[in-house]
Amino acid sequence: MAYGLLKGKRGIILGALNDMSIAWKVAEKAHEEGAIFTLSNTPVAMRLGTLDELAEKTGSEMISADATSLKDLENVILRSMEVLGGKIDFILHSIGMSPNVRKGLPYDSLNYEYFLKTLDISALSFHKLLLLARKHDAISEWGSVVALSYVAAQRTLVGYNDMADAKSLLESIARSFGYIYGRDKKIRVNTVSQSPTMTTAGSGVKGIETLIDFTERMSPLGNATAADCADYCVTLFSDLTRKVTMQNLFHDGGFSSMAMSLRAIDQYSKSFDECD
Ligand SMILES: NC(=O)c1ccc[n+]([C@@H]2O[C@H](COP(=O)([O-])OP(=O)(O)OC[C@H]3O[C@@H](n4cnc5c(N)ncnc54)[C@H](O)[C@@H]3O)[C@@H](O)[C@H]2O)c1
Repeated sequence: MAYGLLKGKRGIILGALNDMSIAWKVAEKAHEEGAIFTLSNTPVAMRLGTLDELAEKTGSEMISADATSLKDLENVILRSMEVLGGKIDFILHSIGMSPNVRKGLPYDSLNYEYFLKTLDISALSFHKLLLLARKHDAISEWGSVVALSYVAAQRTLVGYNDMADAKSLLESIARSFGYIYGRDKKIRVNTVSQSPTMTTAGSGVKGIETLIDFTERMSPLGNATAADCADYCVTLFSDLTRKVTMQNLFHDGGFSSMAMSLRAIDQYSKSFDECD
């Protein structure tokens, strides 16, 4: 059911790769809610993914950009204002990648060049995006910028590797820029800390299937799906959340406030039965 929450709003959505991507679901939902937007991803992702399908379905222009490149990001911002016909009301940063995770290098044996790449792609790109948007005064007053994070920013999870550090940095950037952008332009900057989700990036996390089962058992409301995340992001882009800024907002069915649940302890006890 659509509510017209984003009627008349212009946006930029970065990071939709295929129909499993969280950004893809956000784009579908934002379209349903009346927004117009551009879609951006790397040239390789645009070639290998299925972004053109989404672009056609939502009537959006695709703009290629490597999120580590200031020049590319600047082009995304300027081109988006041009094709959408004015300032931007919302931006979704849904970008993450760790070459260390890809290459299977554990946290106590990181390659530092890769580590810097992880931070650049997954966190600094958010700073670059905000800096360039501000430089070009590209976001309307009361606009909203959201980046996707994960609970590994606060709690240690086996296998999340240097992405945990990237997410901590990402959340810190949201607070630091949120202050400046809020103070000067009344623009909101938040991160949404999403449940583990089976996407292309998600499937790179070690033991993702077991993790998804664990968090499902631990969360009183169950895991949040990518579609649930899209619903939440849309509320953050809407005018109904104008005073929410500089927050890391957990969207995880309650997982982040739990230590042990009945369902998880039942499952945990079973492993002892099997050992007896
Ligand atoms: N899947 C999960 O379990 C989960 C949970 C919490 C947060 N997140 C976060 O959600 C966001 C989206 O991930 P997803 O799960 O939808 O997976 P996804 O693989 O669909 O999206 C990740 C995107 O990052 C893009 N990307 C990688 N390097 C890039 C670069 N240099 N420049 C521009 N784009 C680049 C990819 O092309 C891809 O579109 C990420 O920030 C991820 O960390 C995911």
